[in-house]
Amino acid sequence: MLAGKKILLGVTGGIAAYKTTFLVRLLIKAGAEVKVILTQSAVSFVTPLTLATLSKNPVHLDFVNEADGTLDWNNHVELGLWADLMIIAPATANTLSKMANGSSDNLLLATYLSAKCKVFFAPAMDLDMYQHPTTKANYQKLQSFGNIMIPATSGELASGLDGEGRMEEPEKIVEFIEDYLKEGLPLSHKKVLITAGPTYEAIDPVRFIGNHSSGLMGVELAKKAASLGADVVLVLGPSAIQINDTSIQVIRVTSADEMYVAVMENFKNAEVVIAAAAVADYKPKNRAKEKIKKSSDSLNIELVKNKDILLSMGKSKTGQYLVGFALETENELANALQKLKKKNLDAIILNSLKDEGAGFGGSTNKITIIDKNSSIKAFEVKTKAKVASDIWKEIISKMHA
Ligand code: CTP
Repeated sequence: MLAGKKILLGVTGGIAAYKTTFLVRLLIKAGAEVKVILTQSAVSFVTPLTLATLSKNPVHLDFVNEADGTLDWNNHVELGLWADLMIIAPATANTLSKMANGSSDNLLLATYLSAKCKVFFAPAMDLDMYQHPTTKANYQKLQSFGNIMIPATSGELASGLDGEGRMEEPEKIVEFIEDYLKEGLPLSHKKVLITAGPTYEAIDPVRFIGNHSSGLMGVELAKKAASLGADVVLVLGPSAIQINDTSIQVIRVTSADEMYVAVMENFKNAEVVIAAAAVADYKPKNRAKEKIKKSSDSLNIELVKNKDILLSMGKSKTGQYLVGFALETENELANALQKLKKKNLDAIILNSLKDEGAGFGGSTNKITIIDKNSSIKAFEVKTKAKVASDIWKEIISKMHA
């Protein structure tokens, strides 16, 4: 959900500022790009060097450029325009008061006033300050401007007192923002299960039967689903693709048997399933314990059928919207329709290897989507990311039909 988002983190002077080191790490792990602004008093609690290192970006402290002493008066405008969202954490009573009243006597406040994006603030202060009518009035005023408050929690405070006023934990801040961003999206909180990649069927400890699938089509489908608000489980066969998006739960598997187990564990909870994996249809009957030596001139390996994962899902379907792929080289439409029926699918996505730019291995695909009512929609060659958008658009329209 946060992958690719540009996040501006404003840190003000409270003891919870040290926790922003964890917050930055979590945001980066979620695939976001992060820039940090520290107020002068925040520098007493967390060092700019730590946050610059973790965010992989220079930290902004003032209107004056620290490096060469030049006046960089415009940076608040640039930072404000750069951000997709802004988080002020910890937000002290002092900063909240200034934000509520349009004060701009430091870089963070000037940037807040310049920002056009959603602003989240996570207050942190002592319990009496948190409950004070002035502070409460400021929260309300800020919320009436469209800012989003991430309420403080209860617990032991730096003063030694116990009560409400602790900044929310970094993990919860990330969760809060992700949940907020998901609201209203077409796949908001929908449970999506996707299979992707090849499977490797072991012959001996060093050799396997596999195929050229890169896993890209399924990965793009997973990324698109996450960006549309879905809770995604991706069961991924051996693929070199690294997924830098913590809102996708990735289960890495090697063989078709392992994929079957992972899929079946997650199938019951799923609402939409897309089987994009190029599962090996056969596996060696026996896996040699030791490396097979080239002692004879020919070698026969007996193969047995793998479980058909999609067929099993089709048989045990209880309301899931089930989508398969069909990779064909001849009688494409007829074969795809036959698969759709046999596997009890709601739709099937046909790739023909006769089409240039289609199939697995490459960065593009050319698809035809056929649904269970035999409606057929053919698309041009596109990048797999764009193909993923087309597929989701189609599924969403069918689910709401
Ligand atoms: N599939 C699966 N498990 C298998 C084989 C295929 O889940 N053991 C899924 C694929 O992920 C795809 C669909 O079934 O969504 C069709 O795969 P494809 O290889 O085109 O067809 P097969 O059913 O294997 O039939 P054939 O190879 O004979 O064309």
